Amino acid sequence: MGQDDPQGIDDTRGCVVEDSSSIGGLVKVNITVNGVAKESDVEPRTLLVHYLREHLQLTGTNIGCDTSSCGACTVHLDGEAVKSCTLLAAQADGSSVTTIEGISTNGEMHPMQKAFMENHGLQCGYCTPGMVMAAISLLKENPKPTEEDVRLGLEGNLCRCTGYHNIVKSVLAAAK
Ligand code: FES
Ligand code: FES
Repeated sequence: MGQDDPQGIDDTRGCVVEDSSSIGGLVKVNITVNGVAKESDVEPRTLLVHYLREHLQLTGTNIGCDTSSCGACTVHLDGEAVKSCTLLAAQADGSSVTTIEGISTNGEMHPMQKAFMENHGLQCGYCTPGMVMAAISLLKENPKPTEEDVRLGLEGNLCRCTGYHNIVKSVLAAAK
């Protein structure tokens, strides 16, 4: 990453990192988050995950790596699952974002959350918000997946605790 890199892109790792040379003026972003329109001034380098956690205090979306590989930061952007550490907040301007905090209805857990709870699909829970968001998206695209479909569909989400068996079981239960 060099001083002459205006976008703050670290070529060696392929992700956006902090770089004092990229600090410019603030940019205004309008993002609908969990159904509520938000207007915020952010640094151009602000990642979507940092915007959610630090500007909006939506800390259910976790950060588990800095290499776009763990999926702990998965949210829905205009209905599609995305890793929110791979996007700038400015890139989500004009879009709708749903986080784990936005999937319950009238205080009732989302069916996917219930399935994870009932099938012991978590241990420490760190990967769980991202796993749940990815699983909801998976079932939207494939409402009746096989076990293999679920394993393939969640391959971008890493869990250090469960061995995946109960996570897969949870998603299959939610699909019934
Ligand atoms: Fe985004 Fe790991 S924190 S993929
Ligand atoms: Fe601990 Fe998945 S439950 S990382």
